[in-house]
Amino acid sequence: MKLTFIGGGNMAVAILGGLVQRGYRGQDVLVIEPDQAKREELQASWQVHTAEPGAPLPASEVIVLAVKPQQLRQVATAIANQVGNALVISIAAGIKLDALSRWLGGHGRLVRVMPNTPALVQAGISGALAADSTSNADRQLAEDILSAVGEVVWVEKESELDGVTAISGSGPAYVFYFMEALQAAARAQGFAPETARKLAYQTFAGAVKLALESPDDADTLRQKVTSKGGTTERAINALETSQVRATIIAAASAAAARSRELGEELGRDPQE
Ligand SMILES: NC(=O)c1ccc[n+]([C@@H]2O[C@H](COP(=O)([O-])OP(=O)(O)OC[C@H]3O[C@@H](n4cnc5c(N)ncnc54)[C@H](OP(=O)(O)O)[C@@H]3O)[C@@H](O)[C@H]2O)c1
Repeated sequence: MKLTFIGGGNMAVAILGGLVQRGYRGQDVLVIEPDQAKREELQASWQVHTAEPGAPLPASEVIVLAVKPQQLRQVATAIANQVGNALVISIAAGIKLDALSRWLGGHGRLVRVMPNTPALVQAGISGALAADSTSNADRQLAEDILSAVGEVVWVEKESELDGVTAISGSGPAYVFYFMEALQAAARAQGFAPETARKLAYQTFAGAVKLALESPDDADTLRQKVTSKGGTTERAINALETSQVRATIIAAASAAAARSRELGEELGRDPQE
């Protein structure tokens, strides 16, 4: 399968790295990227072909659009007459399928994806949405590529991708926020910065591993470490009194609302 990436930044490199680790041949990949240093690094690291924007696109079975959302309209309109019958996968946050299809001259074989930063360590989760005219075989092809950097969840409506953005797209930041807070709490208990960091990070890593490997859900696992009248119960009560759970739900809802706004803004053509 011949694969073309438009944009050779962080996400493209993550997906490419995952594919090569699975045995995909770098020689079958072309990366279009303006930065010469990045092109050279990509060639040296993965033995891929590279070219500058504006170079003619060879026939590809799959084109992955991996530029910033603000760059996508210009990039898509520039390649519209060269995409042929390729499956086009866009990972640009916020850009809806109808805008993308319009910019690509009415192209129908489209999958829109919302990945997240743990993709950089092959531990991501992506939400994916296929255009109506995209076949099951194309969905499978997209999933084969995306699963190189983690799990894939398919959604059926554009609005659900706003939800994916709010949960798994922005979610790593919520987790880092909680990790920062736990670290600050350790500092407040008098631990040195390195020890505070170790206590907070390993608590997260261990709790996540336990949750992923356990048949119990998070609620049960939490109750199992919360003895009546004990220390954890006192802490959980303080969290509940401060409505931390409700605040997290409200925060995700605010993120989804912002995702909807951005989708409207970014999908607009200049004359609209
Ligand atoms: N990183 C994430 O966690 C994450 C999560 C979800 C979704 N995404 C989406 O993934 C996409 C890529 O993100 P990223 O973090 O990988 O960004 P990035 O590192 O900035 O990569 C984008 C690359 O595209 C290049 N580029 C700019 N114009 C181009 C053109 N005309 N033709 C070809 N390449 C061009 C950029 O070069 P210059 O730097 O020289 O402009 C840059 O190297 C974004 O749309 C983002 O919304 C990212």
